[in-house]
Amino acid sequence: MKNIVLIGFMGVGKGSVARAMVKQSAMMALDTDDIIESMENRSVKEIFAQEGEEYFRNLERKTARWLKKKVEGTIISTGGGFFKVPAMKKVGTVVLLTAQFQTIYDRILAHPDADKKLKKRPLFQDIEKARALYDERLSQYLEVADIVIDVSDKEVDKIAREILKKVKK
Ligand code: S3P
Repeated sequence: MKNIVLIGFMGVGKGSVARAMVKQSAMMALDTDDIIESMENRSVKEIFAQEGEEYFRNLERKTARWLKKKVEGTIISTGGGFFKVPAMKKVGTVVLLTAQFQTIYDRILAHPDADKKLKKRPLFQDIEKARALYDERLSQYLEVADIVIDVSDKEVDKIAREILKKVKK
């Protein structure tokens, strides 16, 4: 059974959707940032600060190779740049979660832990840079996606149901 890989911009809700999918199915979930943090025993923020972005991207590629070889039938939520690993589609069925940049940003700000959510993301420190990254990646995300789900104004449980239904087809 293929993995279901959730991709999309920072803050779009990949982790929350993965957790809702676990509740609605017999599948388990993994998160690529969590895998990287446990393999390095430090946070993504620390890895970026201490080693730089390219080092982190290498860890993403290593994680992708392991997932391809060893993991199946699992929901995999990913960091926002993970979709650039080679042979992404071989990791599983790729589901893109989309929303407008402003919708994502407003939702982060409305969260009680907004400060923490922004601080832990090195590429979300400067809003204009984050917006430019969003614009640059939009078409790239669409190119790699098998399924596209617009998540604006939808409850996570509904999004999870929609994905599970579409993947089964
Ligand atoms: C990144 C997104 C982050 C994390 C890292 C880089 C990106 O994950 O992997 O900070 O390049 O978009 P989230 O999408 O969970 O914020």
